[in-house]
Amino acid sequence: MRAITIPEPGGPEVLSWSEVPDPEPGPSEVLVDVRATAVNRADLLQRQGHYPPPPGASAYPGLECSGVVSATGPEVTDWRVGDQVCALLTGGGYAERVAVPAGQLLPVPSGVDLVDAAALPEVACTVWSNVVQLAGLAAGETLLVHGGGSGIGTFAIQLGTALGATVVVTARSVKHDRLRALGADHLIDYREQDFVEEIRKVTDGRGADVVLDIMGASYLGRNVAALAPDGRLVVIGMQGGRKGELDLGALLAKRGTVAATALRSRPLDQKAAIVQGVRDQVWPLIEAARIRPVIDRRLPITEAPAAHRLVESNDHIGKVLLTL
Ligand SMILES: NC(=O)c1ccc[n+]([C@@H]2O[C@H](COP(=O)([O-])OP(=O)(O)OC[C@H]3O[C@@H](n4cnc5c(N)ncnc54)[C@H](OP(=O)(O)O)[C@@H]3O)[C@@H](O)[C@H]2O)c1
Repeated sequence: MRAITIPEPGGPEVLSWSEVPDPEPGPSEVLVDVRATAVNRADLLQRQGHYPPPPGASAYPGLECSGVVSATGPEVTDWRVGDQVCALLTGGGYAERVAVPAGQLLPVPSGVDLVDAAALPEVACTVWSNVVQLAGLAAGETLLVHGGGSGIGTFAIQLGTALGATVVVTARSVKHDRLRALGADHLIDYREQDFVEEIRKVTDGRGADVVLDIMGASYLGRNVAALAPDGRLVVIGMQGGRKGELDLGALLAKRGTVAATALRSRPLDQKAAIVQGVRDQVWPLIEAARIRPVIDRRLPITEAPAAHRLVESNDHIGKVLLTL
């Protein structure tokens, strides 16, 4: 088969569409003929050599895909050849075929095109596991989403809205109209406004019950300041650095919680439980059209370098898909 390989770390130009050996599905895995995959921020880091695949994972990039089941291992009982699926991957999505643990497959939700379904697994699993499973966002609470225009952000806005939360978002102002249309209640341009002041203004001084953060160190102090009493801060990205100073006094006074998680390195049983939770709680919202995949554009997989340049520029809104 062919796959995008990374012969050496570097810029987008190192991504190479090459002939590679076919993957062999294990006894509890499914082989998927890939129709589309999506670019995630982590793929840029992997290409640069900063985010190596975990042990046992495919060497090719790609944390999600959609496609058609073409073979099943002997222990797989709930998927059949010909099923249209999308999947959460530990790697290997930028390829014609990928072997996936059966617990990481999801059916293509009704009303969503097979190609567009590639935009869903990584954001649905990341946002649901952090905002709902871990932080326990409830109706009537306020959710602060940093980077509202990202793949993660556009999904978090829609999920928070569907769950009955007030959603406050940071993003460059050029993206505000699109994010308001997705359900964001208050928009903050983080380049010109102080998000701590703004969140207090729109919550009568209380702050955010849940903060979904992608910046890490550079936002840590302000994120704690932005929390409401009993607030929960969940850090999933470190675009602003990994080492920050945490004012425990400020956190303690609010009875706050700070958590940080990574989806890719979770054990298989945790991933399968998250995928099941998403299927039970999020898929019905997608099928009711209360959450839609947000796709900036589709490019052929041979244009993976251009897709990486676009995501690096941050000029996209939502997901950039690579089609096969
Ligand atoms: N831990 C996990 O399991 C996990 C899983 C998936 C993703 N992630 C992380 O989640 C983040 C989003 O991923 P993605 O693939 O959806 O990213 P993406 O589409 O590439 O978007 C990155 C976003 O960062 C925003 N941004 C840059 N500087 C900012 C700032 N100072 N304040 C607020 N926003 C800022 C940009 O928006 P503007 O144009 O508005 O600046 C852009 O929308 C990444 O950090 C990724 O590593 C973590």
